[in-house]
Amino acid sequence: MSSSPLPSHPSPLSSPLPAPLSAPHSRSTVISELRAAGCVFAEDEAELLLSTARTAAELAAMVERRVIGLPLEHVVGWAEFYGRRVTVDPGVFVPRRRTEFLVGQAVGLGRRAGARTGRAPVVVDLCCGSGAVGAVLADALERIELHAADIEPAAVRCARRNVVPAGGEVYEGDLFDALPGGLRGRIDVLVANVPYVPTGEVGLLPPEAREYEPLVALDGGTDGLDVLRRVTAAAPQWLAPGGHLLVETSERQAPHAVEAFTRNGLIPRVTASEELYATVIIGTRPVEGQAIPGPP
Ligand SMILES: C[S@@+](CC[C@H](N)C(=O)[O-])C[C@H]1O[C@@H](n2cnc3c(N)ncnc32)[C@H](O)[C@@H]1O
Repeated sequence: MSSSPLPSHPSPLSSPLPAPLSAPHSRSTVISELRAAGCVFAEDEAELLLSTARTAAELAAMVERRVIGLPLEHVVGWAEFYGRRVTVDPGVFVPRRRTEFLVGQAVGLGRRAGARTGRAPVVVDLCCGSGAVGAVLADALERIELHAADIEPAAVRCARRNVVPAGGEVYEGDLFDALPGGLRGRIDVLVANVPYVPTGEVGLLPPEAREYEPLVALDGGTDGLDVLRRVTAAAPQWLAPGGHLLVETSERQAPHAVEAFTRNGLIPRVTASEELYATVIIGTRPVEGQAIPGPP
């Protein structure tokens, strides 16, 4: 267990405990149980569980679930993402801190699209998982027309809890098949944090991911780029002229991802954050008459 702890600010669930905690789950026993289970940030996690549980029984259940290895976010039911709290249900991919870099890039592009067109930018969060990316974009952009989609029913249910209150819509289905046809050629910002772990490396992921996140959220095929290639192939038909597709990859995959963008007529740009250890490829659909640079 190595995931970093969520910040321990009080949750909406946290209210004074109705009954004193029973001796087996005092602060120190929670810490020792978490530590014995291999939690690197046992103290911080204990604080979070203590401030989230409303009863001693709830605390005991949370500690038990964490000790057997569930991701902390699945235990408490939310993840801290881009300064917001996003609901994450069991069985749904936990948004990663590194994806905040992709969000930051999308915010800039969304604002520019809004300024250029004079209307709310059309933003689509494809492969939305919990809907974290779309939901925080809706918060960060002054105006937005937001759509999100995923193939996994559990993810779609979870995304609805995050995206619908933000004014967006969530659809279920395989990539673009899930989207209303009316979005074709209209999307200003298309974010797609697709699964990109090469099949042979899925077994090397931490047990929290391997055992509690669905394989479809992780496995990107032999070189990890199968879903990304499908997205880049179809994206030009869905993007507005001058619209952007943003995907996250590993640093190693970036040159191959760039090839896929170029092959499909998107103008690629590689951006990276050392701090978040994140690589994001941004592909732009050329506007009419704009030259498409050839392969490097
Ligand atoms: C790496 S997770 C990213 C989730 C979310 N965007 C985030 O950043 O937290 C990839 C997501 O892609 C979804 N997915 C995988 N294949 C898909 C497909 N063919 N069509 C739609 N969604 C797909 C998975 O269900 C999973 O929720």
